[in-house]
Amino acid sequence: PAGDIADARGRPLHDLRISVTDRCNFRCVYCMPKEIFGRDFAFRERSELLSFEEIERLARISVTLGVTKLRLTGGEPLLRRGITELVSMLAQLRTPQGAPVDLAMTTNGSALPKMAQSLKDAGLNRVTISLDSLDDAKFKAINDVNFPVARVLEAIEVAREVGLGPVKINTVLKRGVNDDEILKLAEHFRGTGAILRFIEYMDVGTTNGWKLDEVLPSAEVVSMINERWALEPAAKTEPGETANRWRYTDGAGEIGVISSVTNAFCGNCSRSRVSAEGQLYTCLFAGSGYDLRKLMRDGISDEDLAKALAGHWRKRDDNYSELRAALTPGNRKRIEMSYIGG
Ligand code: GTP
Ligand code: 5AD
Ligand code: SF4
Ligand code: SF4
Repeated sequence: PAGDIADARGRPLHDLRISVTDRCNFRCVYCMPKEIFGRDFAFRERSELLSFEEIERLARISVTLGVTKLRLTGGEPLLRRGITELVSMLAQLRTPQGAPVDLAMTTNGSALPKMAQSLKDAGLNRVTISLDSLDDAKFKAINDVNFPVARVLEAIEVAREVGLGPVKINTVLKRGVNDDEILKLAEHFRGTGAILRFIEYMDVGTTNGWKLDEVLPSAEVVSMINERWALEPAAKTEPGETANRWRYTDGAGEIGVISSVTNAFCGNCSRSRVSAEGQLYTCLFAGSGYDLRKLMRDGISDEDLAKALAGHWRKRDDNYSELRAALTPGNRKRIEMSYIGG
């Protein structure tokens, strides 16, 4: 089955997000709280993880089914030993039309200053760096491992210098935690070429104790920034895009808002996710995955693997964010953000 496939809601598969490790050196309170992800938390063993060859194989076959965008995530993807090697393997992939794929990475930036140049040389196109606060004390309280904000700002700078751009900055907003920094963040990144994106805090996983009243609706964020620096809407870059883009009318660049809670974007969702151990999830809020590692380790052929992937996608009818309000919170099994990488 070569070429584009559609799921049960008519949505194509364009975006494959690959988690390469479930580990992270941060313990962000809303993602990997220390009480749960402590010293005795059982992370996956090395042998349980997909090998680079297995990851490359999944990516290569997915590209024949319509995938044009690959994103490496974690946990923290830069903790996976040899990650640069994997990047160079994935950078060789070409779509059936012969075009290179868009190869991106979501990272906390901590290891980027020393790795950015080799990642760029290996063929990584761009990075998205998470940054929730510019205030050092607050940032340390959020990452909960005392990591200074200056080193993330350095990572952003280095990423830009080596050409891993346009660099995107992901800021998860939580009411009462960092909503007082919206203008400060906007000001900091205006005119730098970086694209700051404010993300509505979501009920991913089951360990972050999510409450609806902690969500800061994107409409409030946009109107707050617009009062200070005029904004105009910009068109989506691609149909299934997560962010709504807004451009500063004075030419200082753009911001994005990701409104999964107040304005779900499941309608065009073309994202598929593979965990570090090879479980395929067709939604960020899925309760269970599809075991691709088993298929591969049992010796499936490329052709049959393509059929299995296509068949699984065709059955997909996930639209969790559209249903969220109607569901009783807390009674559903869900994967953790740190396990699937957002
Ligand atoms: P670009 O290719 O740069 O557009 O990246 P992206 O927005 O697809 O990926 P990124 O990892 O930067 O996503 C930003 C955030 O949006 C994530 O951390 C999640 O919080 C949220 N997000 C991404 N994809 C989905 C999705 O499919 N569903 C929901 N509900 N949220 C998502
Ligand atoms: N809601 C929204 N975004 C989240 N992230 C982690 N947990 C959540 C959540 N509950 C973001 C991180 C990072 C990306 C991988 O996902 O901040 O930018
Ligand atoms: Fe924080 Fe990202 Fe690590 Fe989660 S995966 S703890 S959000 S740095
Ligand atoms: Fe896609 Fe699921 Fe997110 Fe909806 S909730 S946009 S279906 S990943």
